Amino acid sequence: MRVLFVASEVFPLAKSGGLADVSSALPMALTRQGIDVRLLMPGYPSALARLIDPCVEARFGSLLGIKDATLVSGRLAHSHLPIWLIDAPSLFDRPGGLYQDGHGRDWPDNALRFGFLAHAAAMIARGFLPQWKPDIVHVNDWHAGLTPLLLALGGGPKPATLLTIHNLAYQGNFPPETLSVLGIPNRFFRTDGVEFHGQVSFLKAGIRLSDSVTTVSPNYAKEVLTPEFGCGMDGILRDRGESFCGILNGIDTDLWNPATDPHLANPYDVHDMSGKRACKADLQSSFGLRVDRDRPLIGFVSRLAHQKMADVVLESVPSIAAAGAQFVLVGEGDPALAAAFQHLGDRYRGSIAIRTYDEALAHRLYAGADILLAPARFEPCGLTQMYALRYGTLPVVRKTGGLADTVADTTGAMLSCDMATGFVFEDATLPALVGAIERALALYRQPLIWRRLQQQAMLRDFSWNESAAKYMLLYSRLLVIGNPQSAGGCVMGGRGKSCETGSHMTRVLRGRSSRRSI
Ligand code: GLC
Repeated sequence: MRVLFVASEVFPLAKSGGLADVSSALPMALTRQGIDVRLLMPGYPSALARLIDPCVEARFGSLLGIKDATLVSGRLAHSHLPIWLIDAPSLFDRPGGLYQDGHGRDWPDNALRFGFLAHAAAMIARGFLPQWKPDIVHVNDWHAGLTPLLLALGGGPKPATLLTIHNLAYQGNFPPETLSVLGIPNRFFRTDGVEFHGQVSFLKAGIRLSDSVTTVSPNYAKEVLTPEFGCGMDGILRDRGESFCGILNGIDTDLWNPATDPHLANPYDVHDMSGKRACKADLQSSFGLRVDRDRPLIGFVSRLAHQKMADVVLESVPSIAAAGAQFVLVGEGDPALAAAFQHLGDRYRGSIAIRTYDEALAHRLYAGADILLAPARFEPCGLTQMYALRYGTLPVVRKTGGLADTVADTTGAMLSCDMATGFVFEDATLPALVGAIERALALYRQPLIWRRLQQQAMLRDFSWNESAAKYMLLYSRLLVIGNPQSAGGCVMGGRGKSCETGSHMTRVLRGRSSRRSI
């Protein structure tokens, strides 16, 4: 089975968040299961520079008016996964972020940048490269969301398509003129097409036109069907019925392994935690904190964003300091929040340390901290809590999305049945967060119980094995062409309507066999 996996970021070539981690770890796990996976992503300069064995494989001609764009093949460091990068300097070679300039403003040509990604994906899907043509195109998030629509244009056979939503809040909504810029007929601009509140939505295109849709945890898959979490797309997702489901993300357990992690001062494992104490001392001394093995150290590895409750964490810092604990932030984002955290760092020197995001620092913080804060107003899956658990650092999470699927609270019942792994709170409020932190600090003072919780956390299996098998099953079902009853169905068992009972437009666009072009 051949799968083209399309994403806007892939670790270690380019990373702004969890999407990059998943976009290397999941294809690796699928490859281990015997699938021929190839990746496609934009050729940001950092990505081209890190590519192993780069080689120009094809030229795009003047696709969408962009001249000199080429497809560069190569491999990822470590995993050796084959990947294609779109080398189009006018779209991707610029200083600043992957999606925004240095001032946090979206690049004005994002529709063209990621429209081009979708066009390139559709071309490869249709046999642009004579030596390799996929059976499945697996697109991720809005950046690649137009691919299924582009595949629906034109005739001939085409691969099955799957969209994975990593965060429904990012939708890729652009002005209506975008359609003609991207060579897409205006007939798609309708409510049961890609129109979304007067704009063209790349994500809606993906949701409507993919053969199947997944998101990154079962709990988030339920939440987004409600107006509270649906970001205006809950109805569109409900229309997908059984062809929409949640498959829990895993983590790369080789990369995230305290026994072999090259970033750590000392390795450790569940049987011998002495290395974790050394990691804590290393963290305290290099971050300018008082070196004290008995002082609880609380970490926060996060984008400074409303989603992550960074504003509430900021407010909780004085209580953390008053409780005699230390706090380390590794992250960046909202400039006002960053400045406010920095201010607290200056005020509580020796107890609070603030650093911008750096992959190696993040590894050291997961290892050296005792407790990790991972609160969120919503969280599709969240990976930081899983990294923390693997490093014996107990997470404080809000009961939402994938956080609720991956952390078991230390309530009395859970403690007695050896399942608890962290501290879960319900409301997105300061008292709820501080209450959970206080519960964590109280148990930290009971070393025997704490040790047992750490063991339980470290022994949980967050590898990709189980979830990659679910994706494989889903791919296999998608390959059942001409069998619409099962082809688009999800692997989690069914609630809701079948994909064939979606809107009229969906039926028209998907065709009876779900492959036929319109
Ligand atoms: C996004 C989501 C996060 C998820 C990650 C990988 O960053 O916000 O919850 O874990 O994608 O799927």
